[in-house]
Amino acid sequence: MEQPRTTTPQIKVANLSKDYGPVQVLRNISFGFTGGVSVAITGPSGSGKSTLLHVVGTLEKPNSGRVEINNIDPFMLSEPELAKYRNAVIGFVFQDHYLLPQYSVLENVLVPTFAFKQQPDATERARELLRRVGLTHRLTHRPGELSGGERQRVAIARALINQPDILLCDEPTGSLDSTTAETIADLLFELHDVERNTLIVVTHNLELASRCQQHLQLVDGTCSVNTNS
Ligand SMILES: Nc1ncnc2c1ncn2[C@@H]1O[C@H](COP(=O)(O)OP(=O)(O)OP(=O)(O)O)[C@@H](O)[C@H]1O
Ligand SMILES: [Mg+2]
Repeated sequence: MEQPRTTTPQIKVANLSKDYGPVQVLRNISFGFTGGVSVAITGPSGSGKSTLLHVVGTLEKPNSGRVEINNIDPFMLSEPELAKYRNAVIGFVFQDHYLLPQYSVLENVLVPTFAFKQQPDATERARELLRRVGLTHRLTHRPGELSGGERQRVAIARALINQPDILLCDEPTGSLDSTTAETIADLLFELHDVERNTLIVVTHNLELASRCQQHLQLVDGTCSVNTNS
């Protein structure tokens, strides 16, 4: 499962702007991250953190500027190609887990693999990920039968199932109490070490932010990137 990566993920954003009509959210933003780093994104509410994450995650198109991931501009791909690319390269964890209520824990983790044909070892990997997030005893539960922290752990396992180069998390601990939030943060970094993906976390939690190697701060639609010591 922990085979070495053959590609170095690399995220490049150049002169990126994004507006929603009159609302100018991101203004001429540029940054670059080498593969395997951990990055915290912070900024006031409404400063565009989720928007930036959605653009980097190829869910939303910028109005201008360029995004390159692994030397590819994903927005040049056709819609079906982009969906496939996103599913293979990027994992998402949202504040609200977005699990499918009618499916079991194990099935939820397997959902992103349905887009690919032959994946004989997918179930094995799903079980292994669920073991690592401490949910072996909950495989057949429905999301409604889990605690908030448990649901978020399922969401993390699901995000990692296709071994994405990049894991994007939007306030993954936002709706959890501080102890559970810390456990989830520990888990994210533990899995980041093992999977060697690039971890980008939007967070209001400064403790979590300080654990990341890089810190991107958004203010008034512009950004600065610092390296944490
Ligand atoms: N689909 C949309 N249509 C119009 N405006 C939007 C849309 N999505 C976001 N916005 C606006 O863009 C701005 C940035 O929103 P965004 O969700 O990126 O902020 P955020 O930094 O993630 O905030 P929070 O910390 O509250 O989650 C906000 O002013 C918001 O109202
Ligand atoms: Mg947000």
